[in-house]
Amino acid sequence: MALEVSLTPERPINSGAALLAVALDDSLQLDPSLEELDKSAGGEIRQAIDNRDFRGARDEVLHITSATGGTRRIALIGTGKVADRSGALRRAAAIAARQAGKLGSGSLAFFAPSLQERDVEAAVVGLHAGAWEYKELKSPPPEAELRAPVTTAKLLTAENDATKRGLATGAAIGAGHALARTLAMMPGNICTPEYLANTAADIASRHGMELTVLGRAEMRAEGMGALLSVAQGTPQDPKLIALQYRGGTAGTKPVVLVGKGLCFDSGGISIKPAQSMEDMKFDMCGAAGVLGALEAIGRMRLPINVVGLVGSTTNMPSGTASNPGDVVKSHLGKYIEIINTDAEGRLVLADVLSYARRFDPAVVVDAATLTGACVIALGHTATGVFGLDDELVSEVIAAGKRAGEPGWSLPLWDEYRELIKSDVADIKNSGGRPAGAVTAAMFLKEFTESYPWVHLDIAGTAYSESDLVAIPKGPTGVPVGTFVEFVRGRVS
Ligand code: BES
Ligand code: MN
Ligand code: ZN
Repeated sequence: MALEVSLTPERPINSGAALLAVALDDSLQLDPSLEELDKSAGGEIRQAIDNRDFRGARDEVLHITSATGGTRRIALIGTGKVADRSGALRRAAAIAARQAGKLGSGSLAFFAPSLQERDVEAAVVGLHAGAWEYKELKSPPPEAELRAPVTTAKLLTAENDATKRGLATGAAIGAGHALARTLAMMPGNICTPEYLANTAADIASRHGMELTVLGRAEMRAEGMGALLSVAQGTPQDPKLIALQYRGGTAGTKPVVLVGKGLCFDSGGISIKPAQSMEDMKFDMCGAAGVLGALEAIGRMRLPINVVGLVGSTTNMPSGTASNPGDVVKSHLGKYIEIINTDAEGRLVLADVLSYARRFDPAVVVDAATLTGACVIALGHTATGVFGLDDELVSEVIAAGKRAGEPGWSLPLWDEYRELIKSDVADIKNSGGRPAGAVTAAMFLKEFTESYPWVHLDIAGTAYSESDLVAIPKGPTGVPVGTFVEFVRGRVS
């Protein structure tokens, strides 16, 4: 169920919430409204601070259950040393909502002193992130174990035009994140290419966007030999989804967002080992990011033109699947030798990036769970960012930073082109293990030469194999925030 967040100027002492979460940095200052709360809680907050039971460190949580009346349950949430207040509040609010979920309190109030518009926005994004759950495929637990889902949250702050704008924007981004995470969490037998196309249709109809969907037949007519070679082993109809949002002046070039949408990647004939193969249902996180971003942008009604493109299929071994050594002709016309059928994302993206030309892009940003090598290079902490235009790369990294989705630049130097030279065709789809994230990006570069372009390798950042305190194990919502912030930054 979606979370409903409201703003209320109540003082913490009057919140009446089943759980009151208070964000505190490591200076541990109590403003007058917290002094008042402390008094009503019999001085327990001060005592926890004085005893060093709570130090305000980042991600620290201390629950205070007061028997003396007033607010029964208080959670102190630490934000540590605060350089980026909005980011710290996003994280604290997510932790607060997760705590409410664990307690089964059903609702919560969140307080931090003097919130500006951006802080409100960040806190609301965090509350949505922390309240997100995917429970659709679990039978309800026995009565005794039932926990109320978090359905309402109050942000304790003055209600004015700025904070209301923060609330609306935060809710829009929160909805975009939630959509992306839900799509990513869905198993591959439910979230199919067709399901992604239907989701796009729903976004289009709710926000007045134009939708185009190409299936296998239309891709054949377009000459999309690279994308089709990946889809050759699956009976499911592959989908190329184009969502056009026209919030800007007619005729101005759009920002084009592109996502890899492999609803399952078995590796194909170059099949993957069984260990953790199930994780490859997440191989559509780029696509989920595009749809989530369009959902947020649609809700925000941003005055700019945006096109979302998704290339979606599954990669399966079968008697009809493509084989290592096969050569295919791409939509752009370049011939590709398929060395490894598991390097399928770049084949799909090659044709989608070529198709993007017809929208006359101002800029194209693609996101893909493209390489295991990027996970080796940067772990689960930073997205790999690739581009030829340093200024544009910086613009994308700055957008990611604002969204709490860090990225790090990796090189796209001509020297690496050697590694993907083919003996028989124009290019081969794998350069082997050295610089695997770079050679994948070098491959994409061949299909993006007619517009400014940045590539995001989100293989390490789109989902988490462990509980990250603010975000549980599973999809993180990356790259929705980066996409939305980038597009916002382009609004003139
Ligand atoms: N979807 C995978 C990349 C991936 C691997 C994402 C692990 C997240 C975790 C991609 O399609 C792939 O299989 N890439 C290969 C490329 C290689 C065959 C050149 C890889 O990274 O091993
Ligand atoms: Mn693969
Ligand atoms: Zn893949």
